[in-house]
Amino acid sequence: MEEFHKVRRLPQYVFEQVNRLKASARAAGADIIDLGMGNPDLPTPKAIVDKLCEVVQDPRTHRYSSSKGIPGLRRAQAAYYARRFGVKLNPDTQVVATLGSKEGFANMAQAITAPGDVILCPNPTYPIHAFGFLMAGGVIRSMNVEPDDSFFGPLERAVRHSIPKPLALIINYPSNPTAHVASLDFYKDVIAFAKKHELIVLSDLAYSEIYFDDNNPPPSVLEVPGAIDVAVEFTSMSKTFSMPGWRMGFAVGNERLIAALTRVKSYLDYGAFTPIQVAATHALNGDGSDIAEVRNVYRRRRDVMVDTFGKAGFEVPPPAATMFAWAKIPEKFRHLGSLEFSKLLVEKADIAVAPGIGFGEMGDDYVRLALVENEHRIRQAARNLKRFLSSADETMHNVVSLNAHR
Ligand SMILES: Cc1ncc(COP(=O)(O)O)c(C=O)c1O
Repeated sequence: MEEFHKVRRLPQYVFEQVNRLKASARAAGADIIDLGMGNPDLPTPKAIVDKLCEVVQDPRTHRYSSSKGIPGLRRAQAAYYARRFGVKLNPDTQVVATLGSKEGFANMAQAITAPGDVILCPNPTYPIHAFGFLMAGGVIRSMNVEPDDSFFGPLERAVRHSIPKPLALIINYPSNPTAHVASLDFYKDVIAFAKKHELIVLSDLAYSEIYFDDNNPPPSVLEVPGAIDVAVEFTSMSKTFSMPGWRMGFAVGNERLIAALTRVKSYLDYGAFTPIQVAATHALNGDGSDIAEVRNVYRRRRDVMVDTFGKAGFEVPPPAATMFAWAKIPEKFRHLGSLEFSKLLVEKADIAVAPGIGFGEMGDDYVRLALVENEHRIRQAARNLKRFLSSADETMHNVVSLNAHR
């Protein structure tokens, strides 16, 4: 029987294949060090949890909540933008709360896409950037770009040669998976380009607070004067406050786009559970000390990973932001592709990573390492890697002869 139209556009997550292997290795007793999924392991700060527990006692909070977010929450998000980026937002018309930024992004795609609309999307990238639009009937034009001057040649070509003319450009800096960070000057050029070519700009700023150079926090695209004419930006509480399971994020920016998303959401959901919204408000209005601590933990893990993996013979460029390192597969293994290499790491080194191909075809020479295990476990992973790499010739010989017999 033929697969449903929508389901055909949603192939099995590549990551699932590594996950299955990981699960069976664990079932067989292996101690797998999981650097695969970007699922924060740190607890949500106590004050936020306490607020949830307090508010949930009030039965009035058990009713349907507000789809676009309770007013106090939207005001807190506007205050965060004012404080952190110097960007003034109207909490009534330029801010909407979402059930995690992933939901917000996907429903924005539903809200604005007509069948066949062309979307300019980074590759490699976080999967919802492409699949949100594919589900909505859009067409993706992939761009393997970095946030510097080299971005604009491919962008010009994409705009010139796409039929119909592209509707929107997706940007995601700090980037998952590449960890590239954009400057405000880069954003100025993006906005000027978008205005010239009447492109919508959708900026995913999920890692706004996970950065390691204290003097260089990632900017918001909305800091560019006039950006609000064409841009919407998505932020997330998942990483900033270690709240991934709470499902709380935001879209802010252009009123017409925010209204479109708000309308779609009003048909789909009643908003997050009110105690979650109140606790999230409390988090956003906090003094930022929790965020600084989260940053320090990831920074220390990054430093341990870069150092110990490097010494083990696996070069890991230090990411300037995000909770990921994006590392090229060692030369000897590169021809295997990232999925086979990732499977080999589970089987031979007890390490799970995310294969680069899961972020798009242009990521296949890489794997993504998430900083979600503690320093001790990262050191253990490095020891496993060293053992694995020192027997690389033998391993490759076995892989080659295994393939020959298949
Ligand atoms: C770039 C990026 N955007 C969005 C998300 C989704 O975050 P949320 O938990 O807010 O849906 C993630 C999560 O890993 C991400 O890496």
